[in-house]
Amino acid sequence: MDKAIDKTSCIFVAGHRGLVGSAICRRLMAAGFTNLLVRTHAELDLCDARAVDLFFGKQRPEYVFLVAAKVGGILANSTYPADFLRENLAIELNVIESAWRHGVKKLQFMGSSCIYPKMAEQPIREEYLLSGPLEPTNEWYAIAKIAGIKLAQAYRHQYGFSAICLMPTNLYGPYDNFDLQRSHVLPALIRKFHEAKKLGMPEVVVWGSGTPRREFLHVDDLADAAVYLMHHYDDGMPLNVGGGTDITIAGLAALIGKTVGYEGKIVWDGTKPDGTPRKLLDVSRLNALGWTAGIHLEQGIASTYEWFVNSRWVEKGASSMATHQSA
Ligand SMILES: NC(=O)c1ccc[n+]([C@@H]2O[C@H](COP(=O)([O-])OP(=O)(O)OC[C@H]3O[C@@H](n4cnc5c(N)ncnc54)[C@H](OP(=O)(O)O)[C@@H]3O)[C@@H](O)[C@H]2O)c1
Repeated sequence: MDKAIDKTSCIFVAGHRGLVGSAICRRLMAAGFTNLLVRTHAELDLCDARAVDLFFGKQRPEYVFLVAAKVGGILANSTYPADFLRENLAIELNVIESAWRHGVKKLQFMGSSCIYPKMAEQPIREEYLLSGPLEPTNEWYAIAKIAGIKLAQAYRHQYGFSAICLMPTNLYGPYDNFDLQRSHVLPALIRKFHEAKKLGMPEVVVWGSGTPRREFLHVDDLADAAVYLMHHYDDGMPLNVGGGTDITIAGLAALIGKTVGYEGKIVWDGTKPDGTPRKLLDVSRLNALGWTAGIHLEQGIASTYEWFVNSRWVEKGASSMATHQSA
């Protein structure tokens, strides 16, 4: 199963500018890979089958990290269901088809833990896939990701195509999306607490009851696992990727408040959805392959906050928080 990948191999990272894609590029370069192939969304729209096939025919990459996707939080998913289903299905089909057709040696598809049933037994094992109803607020995206897994399995079954599928838990880190309308919970909380501290606000309002439990993995850990598994995993079964521990949203909010140095009150808005009560992945199969997470949540949040305060998000920050509060 262990196949050393030549450091000069041509490796296409689809979605290289996003949270995950940029971390995988950093990890590959740190590991000495010199021949990374990347295209921005504007240069190559992965929803365009013809353009994708021409690209693969011309560039002939040997390995592919398929991490490009239309990604977003609860609000974006429930507002734009057709876009989330159509675009993610198109990206997966176009890239997997052209990768196989043009002789790619191995492709890694990045799924997400939202593929599992809403009320799955915890921690969630890979075998629980398609064993119950999905979380309604992001089912469109989840169905597209499940279709991606089935595509990879079908191409492996029919053509012996070496495609593997990773199911990461909630990710966070540098280059994340801190737009309060579209972001996930962790970057949203970092921004809210930072702006509340800057503006001297007496309280921060957080969505939900604070009781749901969530697992978070730093994206550099995910990238390390992704590169490790490209070498050490070659099976049709999707593989969970996580740290194996979770925290309540209330605990997360308190940790971020402390990291930012915010001393005001946290107020819970119970009118907003909590989503799934708990989502913790079983990572025993991953650990049995010799990989475990290395970045602890407290340390990861501290370095992400440091990245955030030096990022482009801060300048814009002050004004949008003001508008956010008044809305
Ligand atoms: N973030 C998480 O917590 C999380 C958790 C589990 C799994 N994942 C998985 O990880 C993968 C990457 O997520 P992410 O958080 O890194 O998302 P992200 O930051 O939004 O990055 C996605 C990248 O894909 C590109 N892209 C989207 N549609 C495209 C298209 N039609 N053609 C070309 N490029 C396109 C985007 O470019 P533009 O921005 O220019 O459109 C962006 O650079 C996804 O498959 C997601 O399911 C993420």
